[in-house]
Amino acid sequence: MRMLIKNIRGLLSVYDDSPGVLRGAKMNELSMLENAFLAVDNGRIAIYGSMEEWGGIEDWRNLEVIDAEGRYVLPAWCDSHSHLVFAASREKEFEDRISGLSYEEIARRGGGILNSAQKLAQMDEDELFESSLLRLRQLVESGTGALEIKSGYGLSTEAELKMLCVVARLKEESKVKIKATFLGAHAIPAAYASKRRAYIDLILEEMIPAVAEKKLADYVDVFCEKGYFSTEESLEIVERASDFGLKSKIHVNQFNAMGAIPKLVAAGVLSVDHLEVMDEEDFEALSGSATIATALPLCSLFLSLDYTPGRQLIDRNAALALASDYNPGSAPSGNMALAVSLACIKMGLTPAEAINAATINGAAAMEISDTHGSITPGKVASLIITEACESPAFLPYSFGRPAIERVILS
Ligand code: NIG
Ligand code: FE
Repeated sequence: MRMLIKNIRGLLSVYDDSPGVLRGAKMNELSMLENAFLAVDNGRIAIYGSMEEWGGIEDWRNLEVIDAEGRYVLPAWCDSHSHLVFAASREKEFEDRISGLSYEEIARRGGGILNSAQKLAQMDEDELFESSLLRLRQLVESGTGALEIKSGYGLSTEAELKMLCVVARLKEESKVKIKATFLGAHAIPAAYASKRRAYIDLILEEMIPAVAEKKLADYVDVFCEKGYFSTEESLEIVERASDFGLKSKIHVNQFNAMGAIPKLVAAGVLSVDHLEVMDEEDFEALSGSATIATALPLCSLFLSLDYTPGRQLIDRNAALALASDYNPGSAPSGNMALAVSLACIKMGLTPAEAINAATINGAAAMEISDTHGSITPGKVASLIITEACESPAFLPYSFGRPAIERVILS
């Protein structure tokens, strides 16, 4: 594919050499080239520059020309945390919450993750694949170009592998760049309610080796939370994963600060995700750290939780990413443009910080910042063209409806 996008009002996140990740004050720098062109060759960003410098193209064969007058072009969203593969929606729990039950109470009554696991056990792989593919296609329309997808609604070796096989098929089928994460430690399944240690041993001795041997996961995740997996259990799983060469991305501090973050950071996890509840020691651990702090504002909105203190994290020199957490229980939406808006409205990020958090830092949280997350020659052409607007701030300002005219994935 050869493509020329011309008359671009502003080409955002332009770097000749891409940063791996942006941290602290650097997150407020959204490099922009005004009145620009961008050429794509063979699915890669070939060259960009200002329209004044553009010498014209001699060979117009097989070249698609897009006139982006009045529009901004930026990297497609890099959504580093989702549970896209699931069997059924859970709107009954939504109604229960409106009636006053909390997410945790619903889970204690057998709803929540265990409800999703029960439904997933009954669905065959093909049906799971088709329904997930449909959701993935919808995400592309709202600008997602790269996506991490977790298992975690299987909770048996067989069903976890089924989920990861679906993710592998999505990788094959879609132009979205996908990373797979094994989340066997999402909840203790009903059959192990009275023998939780046996389930942890199953994860350590059977599931992680099987997933690694079949090369079905890029990462391992744990729901480190009261009533789910303790800090010590989480660290055991992180260590076991690293024995198999797998890094970890951990759900933590969603409802409680349990002192886990400093230990997870010391263990070298790639990202810690959620962080709605934070202690001083958690900020200290993430300040200047290579571990990426991932905020999930759609979950905060949907469950009426506190928002991750993104402003403080950036001011304390952390690397902050934004992701959707798309899942049937706590965030049934993968709308990254809305996540970017909420980061500005509720977390106090500037539009530049929020866009960087949802692009280059999301890419870093999936270890794909060498190919995605910025406009850099040689990177994959994974692009958003906005609607005609006056400034990049129009993206988060236009909340609830992505102000996106076209998404280009290669
Ligand atoms: O990230 N918190 C743990 N896991 C998911 C929710 C899973 C569910 O409710 O199905 C989350 O919010
Ligand atoms: Fe999640």
